Amino acid sequence: MTDNWKKAGLPTELPDDPMHWADAWLTEALAGNAQRNPNAMTIATVDAAGQPSARVVLCKQFVPDPGYLVFYTNYQSRKGRELGVNPRAAGLFHWDAVGRQIRIEGIVVRSPVDESDTYFASRDWGSQLGAWGSDQSEPVESKEALVSQIRKRGSELGLILKRGTQDLSAGSISHVNRPPQWGGFRLWATDVELWLEGADRVHDRAKWTREINRVSEDRFSTTRWTSTRLQP
Ligand SMILES: Cc1cc2nc3c(=O)[nH]c(=O)nc-3n(C[C@H](O)[C@H](O)[C@H](O)COP(=O)(O)O)c2cc1C
Repeated sequence: MTDNWKKAGLPTELPDDPMHWADAWLTEALAGNAQRNPNAMTIATVDAAGQPSARVVLCKQFVPDPGYLVFYTNYQSRKGRELGVNPRAAGLFHWDAVGRQIRIEGIVVRSPVDESDTYFASRDWGSQLGAWGSDQSEPVESKEALVSQIRKRGSELGLILKRGTQDLSAGSISHVNRPPQWGGFRLWATDVELWLEGADRVHDRAKWTREINRVSEDRFSTTRWTSTRLQP
């Protein structure tokens, strides 16, 4: 890989809307083969005592207009519980091979149930069973205990597990319902920073902010973005 990308910084006149740029960077990352999960994003949440925690999830949808992204998880997991008491998060993408980083901060709401249902239905049996089989973030006595819990829940669902937790087949059932404790979260962006690695550590940084106001359960009205260049 050449270092050509280092020469192309952010334009002098910053774009009006960072989410379309961020979307283009994500699309480029997905099109390239630079890393296994180009849509991997670190998501940081904060508990009731103010303790932050971070972990990687996959960004499954990026919606530049009106400006949110979607990830799926267990609502009872540590992150899910933290978002329940403090519905704010910071998301971070980093593509080392092209020297790009995106920071997105904002407010998190659950995805509409029909959207979570549709996404869950599109997943393979193994992923569906994973969502039913694991009480994410809860302690488990041993790997064997976990596998036997997954197998038990699989057979309760009507799935036939031939070997271990692998080699799943549908058995007599045609459809697995989404577990109610599993679904999407939408991170609505209020703050976005684009970071582009530059030569000699003269990196490009620019930050955009806007206000969002909740108008319904899962919709926000948004103000225009304002932008500022930041020192690296
Ligand atoms: C590449 C990668 C992708 C992951 N994707 C997800 C995901 O989309 N959803 C999820 O709940 N966990 C995902 N995980 C697991 C999380 O990092 C984490 O272990 C899990 O969500 C529990 O986190 P919590 O206990 O802080 O809630 C992923 C891990 C990696 C390394």
